[in-house]
Amino acid sequence: MLKKCLFPVAGYGTRFLPATKAMPKEMLPILDKPLVQYGVEEAAAAGLDRICFVTGRGKRAIEDHFDVSFELESSIAGTGKENALQGIRSLIARCSFSYTRQREMLGLGHAILTGRQIVGVEAFGVILADDLCLTENEAGVMSQMAEIYQQHKCSVVAIEEVPLDQVDRYGVIAGDAMTEDLIRVTDMVEKPPVDAAPSNFAIIGRYVLTPDIFDILETLPPGRNGEVQITDALMEQAKAGRVLAYKFKGRRIDCGSVEGFVEATNYCFERSRMGV
Ligand code: G1P
Repeated sequence: MLKKCLFPVAGYGTRFLPATKAMPKEMLPILDKPLVQYGVEEAAAAGLDRICFVTGRGKRAIEDHFDVSFELESSIAGTGKENALQGIRSLIARCSFSYTRQREMLGLGHAILTGRQIVGVEAFGVILADDLCLTENEAGVMSQMAEIYQQHKCSVVAIEEVPLDQVDRYGVIAGDAMTEDLIRVTDMVEKPPVDAAPSNFAIIGRYVLTPDIFDILETLPPGRNGEVQITDALMEQAKAGRVLAYKFKGRRIDCGSVEGFVEATNYCFERSRMGV
């Protein structure tokens, strides 16, 4: 059973400056809830209740968010506002939270490798909180992936078809279809130019990784943009047929851009008005 979920949250969030000058981008709210809380809720719903943050300078608000706030709680106790903290309170009670700092930003692969000590030698989930994944009648995306992992016991990446002119923003895969929604990966490239993309199946910010990924990451040379890329490490596992790409059910919105953030806000607002 998967128990741990890693959240790389050390990134600067430069696309949201000046909002993210003194505040972590993961704390930006969609309606009244910070982005990172959506991700932690998705992990916990999948049974991954040991939350591991790879954090960095200027990110302490995340630690405070996932802790009790006695002063605030006692000041709203018995008032009409008491319920506003109910969701986060029960999430905190249900999960454990560990933090380690990434001192230098050397890429997503490096961030994941930094989490090695708190993850240990077991398979784990990875959630990039920027990618907000919402489902309606299905289980959350991490729950769907945990199920695939249980069946196949190898790494799993979530994929989505994107327009060809956007493939250079993502890790892109190719492989052999196993079922309608599952592909055994044979090739993966980080942010390829359109003419070098093996397909238009883009990896989104949800992974299940087997722990041998750490040894691979440790010796991996920097890839695209001079950064240690998780896509390159996964390609090593894929050579042995050990990576599955899963076409998840649900809707993913890239909240790492202002445009996506507004789209997510509007979408969640509509859903809350409809009482979903
Ligand atoms: C990272 C990964 C990329 C993946 C993307 C999903 O890129 O390197 O392979 O497709 O996340 O959001 P980033 O968005 O951090 O540049």
